[in-house]
Amino acid sequence: MHQILLLGSGGREHAIAWKISQSPLCKKLFIGPGNAGTAACGINADVDPMDFEAVSGFALDHDISLIVVGPEAPLVGGIRDHFSANPALKHIGIIGPGQAGARLEGSKDFAKQFMQRYHIPTAAYQTFTAAQLDEGLAYIHQHPLPVVLKADGLAAGKGVLICQSTDEAGAAFRDMLDGKFGSASEKVVVEEFLAGMEFSVFILTDGRDYHLLPTAKDYKRIGEGDTGLNTGGMGAVSPVPFANRALMNQVSDTIIQPTLDGLRQENIAYTGLIYFGLINVNGRPYVIEYNIRMGDPETQVVMPRIKSDLVALFDSVVQNRIPETSLELDDRAATTIVMASGGYPGAYQKGHVISGWDQVDQSMVFHAGTQRKEDGRLVTSGGRVLAVTSLGPDITTALDLSLENAGKIRFEGQYYRKDIGFDLIGDKHKVVSGH
Ligand code: AMP
Ligand code: GLY
Repeated sequence: MHQILLLGSGGREHAIAWKISQSPLCKKLFIGPGNAGTAACGINADVDPMDFEAVSGFALDHDISLIVVGPEAPLVGGIRDHFSANPALKHIGIIGPGQAGARLEGSKDFAKQFMQRYHIPTAAYQTFTAAQLDEGLAYIHQHPLPVVLKADGLAAGKGVLICQSTDEAGAAFRDMLDGKFGSASEKVVVEEFLAGMEFSVFILTDGRDYHLLPTAKDYKRIGEGDTGLNTGGMGAVSPVPFANRALMNQVSDTIIQPTLDGLRQENIAYTGLIYFGLINVNGRPYVIEYNIRMGDPETQVVMPRIKSDLVALFDSVVQNRIPETSLELDDRAATTIVMASGGYPGAYQKGHVISGWDQVDQSMVFHAGTQRKEDGRLVTSGGRVLAVTSLGPDITTALDLSLENAGKIRFEGQYYRKDIGFDLIGDKHKVVSGH
């Protein structure tokens, strides 16, 4: 039995909290800081995930035996190392890698070099610093278009630019090296553009063995038909119909296994999640990026498809017993539609009353940017407000249910995409057998 602390406050954390709270192995669940939705799954605690002293103090005071880290920032900042360095905290299991492993997400240059060292398929690239400005501009000049520029460090999802002209790329390259993303763009990765369908694969690993979680496809652009600005994610579907056995075997053999072997080769202990952001280029999977956490909103379709006890899975990871534990999946398709504040991903208003959520039938509503007022009213408090998740025998059925229920929820300025999963629907009959 565990007393568990889950760190984070988004839709991803609500979905994880929802799943953890169903486990007989969970005695008590705290979410720090959580949101209005997580309050229904456990106890929201006023803990800042970036304040490691506060997190460890809370953990000791509340007899916490397992910490699940939702977002990347505390991991990149070294929360795990903070715990392992202190004998009084060492007994606490942590789902999330140390700082060394977190570089897979925290430094794109590290991730690219790592992939190159272990022959993991990824776009060809070169990295430049401000001292190599001229060399970088010359590289961009001879590069085929489009060309992709990436800030090396964490840039809140805004650090990737796909440039359609050499002039645009040159100007953006200068801006980045000039500090556009602060220290995150001290180094800039310039890479080849890969054309294909993106999909996400998640593993829960102890660094040697792993559980393969359900696959998902995320919809990152704000506009229908994948147009407009990039967002954190406006919807997701699981499983991904084109991620068939042949493609997934390649993912295991050419990406997952070499990644785990590489980490071990470099003596990087890794306990936690790896999110492989992949692209299918003519039947061959390539890595676009690594993340060291679950995706948001992908988690809102992944968790509902896991039948097994999530806490038992976490235990198997912390105790290096993965091969003894099996992961059982729900064969149904899951879809989620993110309801956002008007203006997102640009400026938006907060504090609008959310109504109709109590009319939702047969879908799950995961909260992201929500807050419960003292008078009990639910109000918006972020760009992405809610995710409406449904299960169905195929994507179309699940999507219809998500759309029907999203239609019942109201708040001023609300916006959501109505075409989540449309690009996959031609494949709907294959969905039931997907991972
Ligand atoms: P990232 O922050 O690395 O996930 O990049 C954001 C998005 O940019 C990805 O989800 C892709 O849609 C796109 N992207 C990044 N790198 C490439 C690439 N080499 N080729 C094509 N698209 C890319
Ligand atoms: N939905 C994309 C991400 O979580 O990075």
